[in-house]
Amino acid sequence: MRVLSGIQPTGKIHWGNYFGAIRQYIELQNHPAALYFIADLHALTTVRNPADLQANVTNAALDLLALGLDPAKATLYVQSDVPEVTELTWLLMTVTQMHLLEKCHAYKDKKAKGIAADAGLFTYPVLMAADILLYDSNLVPVGQDQIQHIEVTRDVGQRFNTIYEKEVFVLPEPYVVQSLAKVPGLDGEKMSKSYNNTIEVFMEPKQLRRKIMSIKTDSKGMEEVKDPETCSVFTLYKLFANEEQQAALAEKYRAGGMGYGEAKQALYDSAMEAFGPAFDRRKQLAEDPDTVRDILKEGARKAREKAQEVLQRARDACGLGGR
Ligand code: ADP
Ligand code: TRP
Repeated sequence: MRVLSGIQPTGKIHWGNYFGAIRQYIELQNHPAALYFIADLHALTTVRNPADLQANVTNAALDLLALGLDPAKATLYVQSDVPEVTELTWLLMTVTQMHLLEKCHAYKDKKAKGIAADAGLFTYPVLMAADILLYDSNLVPVGQDQIQHIEVTRDVGQRFNTIYEKEVFVLPEPYVVQSLAKVPGLDGEKMSKSYNNTIEVFMEPKQLRRKIMSIKTDSKGMEEVKDPETCSVFTLYKLFANEEQQAALAEKYRAGGMGYGEAKQALYDSAMEAFGPAFDRRKQLAEDPDTVRDILKEGARKAREKAQEVLQRARDACGLGGR
């Protein structure tokens, strides 16, 4: 079974990205022939500064490697290093029905706000379908908001197979952990870059502490009984803590006599414990750009082998080349 997933290099990753998506990707890397890529072609729909894009790609590679993606187990590459994906995008575009793309949320949301969309944003899900179909992927770990794109991928792959009367493409399944679909941010709303309420995965300890101390809570005083279930600090703590630790902190909430400062300190300690080693690894890796470059180069070489095989199948099916 082939696992594949991609991450857009659009800036610093936050706890929502990690718990909602990246952690699941990395957990699945033990499947043989797992593939992970940095979706720089997708990022072109939002990042329009070349130096920023390049820096973002390097940073995304450092993030994934520091968080445990192991190039000895899984292949890591940059999307644009496998140019076959853009050719497959065109082949798929010719069988993609407009109405499928018109209901996709990134485009629909922009249109609803009266913002003009580029053809790149409109056809974004077709590039994503090509990412997935190009490698005969079976299982695609994603955050909840990406399920719609996997459905488009299945529709488009199926339509190509039907039109050309051949099983050219393998149809993938999404893999989502529903309970992690909405990690709250500093203000209690869904954590997101666009809401300015994020806690980044990689932060200097002082900065992390300051952010955690700024999480919004109700105004209950120290002695008052508190409800862990409605408190963002507790919801975030659950991401890091085992059941025993969760029960112990919940008990303190319910008993009264604990201020929110203490709960925030517990959250800070567990976040430091979880991400501290990755933070140090990332620093070390950042000082060794050649190693990272070699990993991505070797990843692209391996990915291209498979990509060329599948693209050839698709070209043959629709009657391209063959002279
Ligand atoms: P942002 O909303 O900050 O721009 P992205 O849209 O780039 O984040 O998200 C990248 C991935 O991280 C997606 O797969 C998405 O589902 C996941 N993700 C983002 N924010 C959260 C969150 N608050 N809770 C759970 N998953 C999230
Ligand atoms: N669209 C995905 C996101 O924003 C990133 C992505 C691009 C992707 N291509 C993919 C994820 C293929 C899984 C498979 O998170």
